[in-house]
Amino acid sequence: MSITEGRKIEMENFKVKDIALASRGHLQIEWASQHMPVLNQIKKRFNKEEPFKDLTLGACLHVTKETAVLVNAFLAGGAKVALCGSNPLSTQDDVAAALAERDVNVFAWRGQTTEEYYWCVERAIDQKPSITLDDGADLVGTIHNKRTEALSNIKGGTEETTTGVLRLRAMEKTGALKYAIIAVNDAYSKYLFDNRYGTGQSTIDGILRATNILLAGKNFVVCGYGWCGRGIAMRAHGMGASVIITEVDPLKALEAAMNGFRVMPISEAATIGDIFVTTTGDISVVRREHMQKMKDGAILANSGHFNVEINIKDLEELATSKRNIRPNLDEYALKDGRRLYLLGEGRLINLAAAEGHPSEVMDMSFANQALCVEYLAKNERMPPKVYLVPKEIDETVAKLKLDAMKIKIDELTEEQKKYLATWEMGTL
Ligand SMILES: NC(=O)c1ccc[n+]([C@@H]2O[C@H](COP(=O)([O-])OP(=O)(O)OC[C@H]3O[C@@H](n4cnc5c(N)ncnc54)[C@H](O)[C@@H]3O)[C@@H](O)[C@H]2O)c1
Repeated sequence: MSITEGRKIEMENFKVKDIALASRGHLQIEWASQHMPVLNQIKKRFNKEEPFKDLTLGACLHVTKETAVLVNAFLAGGAKVALCGSNPLSTQDDVAAALAERDVNVFAWRGQTTEEYYWCVERAIDQKPSITLDDGADLVGTIHNKRTEALSNIKGGTEETTTGVLRLRAMEKTGALKYAIIAVNDAYSKYLFDNRYGTGQSTIDGILRATNILLAGKNFVVCGYGWCGRGIAMRAHGMGASVIITEVDPLKALEAAMNGFRVMPISEAATIGDIFVTTTGDISVVRREHMQKMKDGAILANSGHFNVEINIKDLEELATSKRNIRPNLDEYALKDGRRLYLLGEGRLINLAAAEGHPSEVMDMSFANQALCVEYLAKNERMPPKVYLVPKEIDETVAKLKLDAMKIKIDELTEEQKKYLATWEMGTL
C-alpha cells in the first residue's frame, strides 16, 4: 500500500487494510470488553452524562481490541474520535476495520513504512482534535514540529507510556511544550500493573508465539530493571529460565540482585545469553560489540517503546545474509557462521508478535485515560506542563477494579485516623 494510494482517498474518513475484516473485529472487541469491567462502568456514566458532546478527540494509540473498548467509551460520551496507530507493526487490522464501521476516523494498518505511519498521524490531526491521546508522543511531536496550526484548537492531552512522558518532560523543560499533558503512565494504577504484569506476561507471549522455544533452563537476559523489566524477569523466572539483569541504575541493579537475579554488564551477559529482551527506553543497548560475542542461535527481542534499543543497523552490517524463518522471526547469518535471530523487527514484541497487554490490565490503564480526558474536557485550559494524574482518579480506578474483582478491604477507624494524623503519641 503506497502513500500515493493513500492520498487518493485522503478526503475519506478512514484508511484501513480491509474493511471486510470488520465482523471479526467486532467479536474481538466484544471479547476484550467482557474483561474490562472498570472501563465499562465508566462508559455507562459517559453514556448518561455525555461529557464529550461536540468534542473531537485525536488518539495515537496501538489499535488493539482494548483500545477499541476505550474508543467506544468515548463515543458513548458523545465524542468524535480520530485514531491512528502508535507503532507501524501493532495495529490489529480486524479491529481497525470494526472501528471504521462505527464511524471512527481510523487511519491504521499493520506493517506500515515510516512514511505511511506519519501520514496516518497527520490524517488524525486533520480532524482538528481538541484533546489528544498519545502512546509515545508522536502525535504531540508532529503537532509541535509540523502542524502547529492545530495547536490553537487543543485544550490538552494525555500520554500513555514511559518513553512518551520522558519526551514530553524534555519538551516542557526547554519551553517547547504548548499545551497541558496528563502523564497517565505515571499513575500508580497504571504502571504498577500495566508496565509490570501487562508487559511481563505479554512479552513472554510475544516471544513464545514468534519462536515456540522452551524457556526452562535458558539464560534469559533482561536489559533494564524498571517496571517493565521487573515484570518480564518475574515471568521468565516463573517459566524456569535463569534470569540475568543488566542495568545502569545502581538502585535497580541492587534490587534485581536482592530479588535473586544475576546482575552483570551487557558485555558479559552477551557471551552467555540465549534470549535477550531490551526494555530500557534507551538507544543501542544491544549493539555491534555485544552481537560479536553472542552464542550461535541467540534470540533478540525488544519490549521498549521504540525500535532503537537493539541496534538493527549493526546487525544488518554484521550479517552476510538474512532469511525470514516464520512470522516475526528473522535469521541473520554472520561471517563466522553464527546465526542471530531478531524478533518482530526489533519493535515491541508483545504487540508485534502477540496482542499486547491482556484486557484486564488495559482496563485500568484505559480507565485512567478515560477519566483524564474527561478531566481535561471539564476543566479550564491548564498551563502547558506535564501533570500527574489527579490522586482521586488514580484511587477511583483502583477501587473500581477491586469492586470488579469482588475484593473488599478495611477502612480506617476514627481512632486510627486520629492516630495517623497526630505526632504527640509515642510508646505507651
Ligand atoms: N511493550 C509494552 O507494551 C510497553 C508497556 C509499557 C512501557 N513500555 C516501554 O518500555 C520501556 C521501559 O518502560 P519502564 O516503564 O520499564 O521504564 P523505567 O524507567 O521504569 O525502566 C527503564 C529502566 O531501564 C534502565 N536503563 C536505561 N538505560 C539502560 C541501559 N543502557 N542498560 C540497562 N538498563 C538501562 C533504567 O535505569 C531503568 O531502570 C519504555 O520505552 C516504555 O515506554 C512498553
